[in-house]
Amino acid sequence: MKSIATILNQQSFEKKDILALLNANEEESKLLFAKSLEVKINNVGNSVHLRGLIEYSNICEKNCLYCGLRVKNENKSLYTLDDEQIDNCINEAIRLRYGSVALQCGERTDKDFTQKITQIIKRIKQLSDNKIGITLSCGEQNADVYKEWFEAGAHRYLLRIETSNEELYYKIHPNDAKHSFKKRIACIDDLSSIGYQVGTGIMVGLPFQTIEDIAGDILFFKEKDVAMVGLGPFIPHEDTPLWKYKDEIPNDKERMLLTLKTLAVTRLVMPKINMVAATANQTIDKMGREKAVMVGANVIMPNLTPTLNRKDYSIYPNKACVQDTPDECANCLDIRMKTINHTILYDEWGDSPAFLEKQRL
Ligand code: 5AD
Ligand code: SF4
Ligand code: FES
Repeated sequence: MKSIATILNQQSFEKKDILALLNANEEESKLLFAKSLEVKINNVGNSVHLRGLIEYSNICEKNCLYCGLRVKNENKSLYTLDDEQIDNCINEAIRLRYGSVALQCGERTDKDFTQKITQIIKRIKQLSDNKIGITLSCGEQNADVYKEWFEAGAHRYLLRIETSNEELYYKIHPNDAKHSFKKRIACIDDLSSIGYQVGTGIMVGLPFQTIEDIAGDILFFKEKDVAMVGLGPFIPHEDTPLWKYKDEIPNDKERMLLTLKTLAVTRLVMPKINMVAATANQTIDKMGREKAVMVGANVIMPNLTPTLNRKDYSIYPNKACVQDTPDECANCLDIRMKTINHTILYDEWGDSPAFLEKQRL
């Protein structure tokens, strides 16, 4: 069997190499992380891009078995930001010099909703003089809706596949028309053909998930040639069906390490993509986001949602920054990144170099 050091010197990686890297022990992981940081610095530098996160509404029609926003969870109070609150978020993004925002919400497909998103996209462009970039994360939609949003000014879209193993997909989602693995893949393909910079990703440490599954996920990112990856640890939520497996999954420390390895290997396999240091990392490790940046992530999503509503966007419990204001997050992140020798780039869209190169071809 090849040593980890030998694999790390390769330019391309087969599934068995990816598996060996994901299985690295503590000592070997240090080599992996040193290499993935080096590859990141050489390809995308030591800068960090920001996406100011606007959690527009926690209303969701779906029933994912892991998520606190699922429609069958009755222990949540519903909210949707009104126009004034949305304007405030946009103005905060401008004031804090965030070059991009990410508009995120539960999934709805009714026309009232899809048209409202179009209107918000136009409002962001209008208030910022066309300066602020827009990432959407509003779930599965028909290609016409994706087109309408693209034409209104959104240019990136995040839709995590959650797992690329169809069998596992149906262990963490109900098996019905509203939760179709094939439809999710078709959405990712639609988004790419429309011209979005597409991001996908997974949760790490799900019940029933194997290392082999995660290796398959990394190859899926590569096969789809995505511009961005957002992945983070699974965090059991008390009001969801997967809560009952909380003692059967790897513990916080193990899930954190596996998340870091997944990020590191993804960076080796796709050196020029944008990769998010997910906030979920910070829920299971106080230094989780810094650690993610140190193994290959280069994007952070500081929260712009009004502090009063943050607690209700409870995808998973104990989310970081729930009590904080946008100003506090902005200062906190600036200091945190300086501490690890990284520089936040303000007033920039921060597009993925992988995407820009592909466009040039
Ligand atoms: N733990 C971690 N991440 C979660 N997500 C949903 N529920 C959880 C959870 N319990 C992630 C999913 C989804 C994104 C909006 O949040 O990956 O795509
Ligand atoms: Fe809704 Fe997304 Fe949560 Fe699924 S993961 S329940 S689609 S918000
Ligand atoms: Fe929100 Fe640190 S990033 S308080």
